[in-house]
Amino acid sequence: MIFKWKDAYGCNIQEIDSQHKRLFEIGSKVFEVASLKDEFDHYDEIINILEELKEYTVYHFAYEEKLMQENNYEGYEEHKVEHDFFIKKIKRIERKDLENAQSEAILDIIAFVADWVSNHILKTDMNYKKFFNEKGIC
Ligand code: FEO
Repeated sequence: MIFKWKDAYGCNIQEIDSQHKRLFEIGSKVFEVASLKDEFDHYDEIINILEELKEYTVYHFAYEEKLMQENNYEGYEEHKVEHDFFIKKIKRIERKDLENAQSEAILDIIAFVADWVSNHILKTDMNYKKFFNEKGIC
C-alpha cells in the first residue's frame, strides 16, 4: 500500500505531522475505493474523496506556506511551486474524466495523486525539517 504512514515520515513538527497523516489517510481511502473490483461504479465516491483530498491539501499547503513565510524559510518559493503544481493538477480532474476513463485509467489518476503526495511529503517537505527544528518549532 502506497499510503501507509510510518513514524519515520514525521518531520518532528506536531501539527504538520498530524496534517500529513490525514493526507495519507485520505489518499489511502481513494486508492482503496478505486481498486475495488465489484460490479458497481464508484465514481461519486471517488469524486467525493478527491474533493476531500483537494480541500484538505489546500488547507495544509496554506498552513505550511504561512509557517515558511513567518520564519523566512529560504526554500519557500521553490516549495510553493510544487504546491501550486499539484493543486492545479488535482483541480483538473473532473467527474467527466472519471466517467469516461476505464478503471485502469482511473487507477493511473489515483496512482499519480498517491505518488505525488507521498513523494512531496517524504522528499520536499523533509527539506525544511532541520530548519524548523533548529528554530525550536515542533
Ligand atoms: Fe506538506 Fe509541502 O506539503
